Amino acid sequence: MSPSKVGRKPGSKGKPDFSSSKGSISQQTEPKQQLRFSLWNFWVASTALKVLLMPDYVSTDFDVHRNWMAITNKLPLKEWYLESTSQWTLDYPPFFAYFEWFLSQVVPASVRADGCLDIVEVGQYGWPTILFQRSTVIISEILLFVVLQIFINTSDVSERSVNFVVASSIALSPAFFIIDHIHFQYNGFLFAILIGSIIAAKKQRYLLCGALFATSLCFKHIFLYLAPAYFVFLLRAYVLDINALKYKSYRDWVFVPQWRNLFKLGGVVLLIFTICFAPFITVMPQLIARLFPFSRGLTHAYWAPNFWAIYSFVDKVLAAVMLRMPYVHNCVSKLFRPLLVPATREEIKHKMATVNNGTRGLVQDVYFLILPQIQPKLTFLLTLFYQLLAVIPVFINPSFKRFIGSLTLCGFSAFLFGWHVHEKAIMLVIIPFFFLVSFDRRFLTPFYLLTASGYVSLFPLLYKSNDFLIKVLYTLIWCIIYFSAFRKLVRVSSSVQRRIFFFDRLAALYCLLLLPMVLGIQSLEVLKGRYSPIRKYEFLGLMFYSIYCSIGVIGSWIGLSWLYNFDEPLWV
Ligand SMILES: *[C@@H]1O[C@H](CO)[C@@H](O)[C@H](O)[C@H]1NC(C)=O
Repeated sequence: MSPSKVGRKPGSKGKPDFSSSKGSISQQTEPKQQLRFSLWNFWVASTALKVLLMPDYVSTDFDVHRNWMAITNKLPLKEWYLESTSQWTLDYPPFFAYFEWFLSQVVPASVRADGCLDIVEVGQYGWPTILFQRSTVIISEILLFVVLQIFINTSDVSERSVNFVVASSIALSPAFFIIDHIHFQYNGFLFAILIGSIIAAKKQRYLLCGALFATSLCFKHIFLYLAPAYFVFLLRAYVLDINALKYKSYRDWVFVPQWRNLFKLGGVVLLIFTICFAPFITVMPQLIARLFPFSRGLTHAYWAPNFWAIYSFVDKVLAAVMLRMPYVHNCVSKLFRPLLVPATREEIKHKMATVNNGTRGLVQDVYFLILPQIQPKLTFLLTLFYQLLAVIPVFINPSFKRFIGSLTLCGFSAFLFGWHVHEKAIMLVIIPFFFLVSFDRRFLTPFYLLTASGYVSLFPLLYKSNDFLIKVLYTLIWCIIYFSAFRKLVRVSSSVQRRIFFFDRLAALYCLLLLPMVLGIQSLEVLKGRYSPIRKYEFLGLMFYSIYCSIGVIGSWIGLSWLYNFDEPLWV
């Protein structure tokens, strides 16, 4: 095993033209280089912008977190997961609840008087609360910058400049900007823990990797979607000793697990979970019900750009076509009846009238008019199936690259096929993907597709029109700067030449067309105020967002899966 480790550690062997020139310079002027590779300036500049945006609109997620702070502050620990005065009940794991408790301890008296810590149905608060909560996001996000700086500091000299670009692009990512600092969540420091575990995996510090991932799980259980990749990677790289098989007979299979490592890893993970969940042991059923609310619908109010968005769209189109064109219905119902299609057009009409088929609202069941209904079990099985496909290569050869590839693909499967996926969950895919792009130029096309469509799919989160310019400009500038930076820095790593020119062109066209789409939908939005007939089609804009973005996300998934499964030299 050791030769392969040594072989991949330099990581830059395949791009000599780049590393040799840059590497020699940085060795001569090491201190200056270090200074150049600091995220400090990025932090200062982006924080200034974030402070300026503090007075922006206040979303429901803001009140969600305020309510959690109030619950953890006012109630004994046992009641945290039982409280339900407000509809925004606590539904993150206990570490996050502890974090909210900690925040509530440092609330100044003036903010307390403002109603920040009141358990009420709908929060009544003013400027002091907003100032306080927004500052907590900015301060907790410092962890992200620290972790990324560690990533830069610990990378080899030859790959430092490209890793610096990766780190800064994560730190300035429009996703954190839109979700955390305008919409309101704490993804910055939550993803910092996850990135920490990725760096630990890169440095082959497996115990730390497992511990950090377990910690991140206890903060935000959505990371569970990435667990298969971690599980198989740690199992294969740390716990199992396949080499033992070569020298011993089959009877010695019992020596294949490295028992010491197994107990160390298992002990650490168990310890973390115990600290997290033990205090809540008596309310465990309620806690589980809060964390995994399967009573919610298949899709969120606004369809996340995934497979189910397309499925819902096809269903709507089919229903419309069959209602307008009787002969289509006749023809199709002859073919499929009674399995798939309602027997008469009256039935479709009736279903349509009874079903709440809007695209806005809190939580609602999605009901398909024509296509078969989807059960949670099916989404679970689909997700698991694609995740299994993604982790098998890691089991065969647990290299860091392969691990990141499978991590990204696990995120993809969960996002595309999961139950009640939020558009914000696209971060689960984007963040691991960042650690892949520096390896080879061929990753850039799926990466561009994913980031462009993923970020644009977040736009409807900020529905106020005064946010329009800021979200579009910020994302556009980020894309222009970092897309061209990656193009310059990342080289083809193996001798195999690029093959799929057509896919590249198509992806570029797709990304370019995002801008007119966003502008077009926004102008419809503006016109809506003037011409009331347009209002009837209000949902169309949102639907168009999800459909167009799902095409990008699915395209990216196919592109990456292709490279992952059919381009062996990329991954060793
Ligand atoms: C990174 O390296 C620089 C220069 O050696 C040092 O000043 C800084 O503290 C390091 N940062 C972290 C987070 O390790």
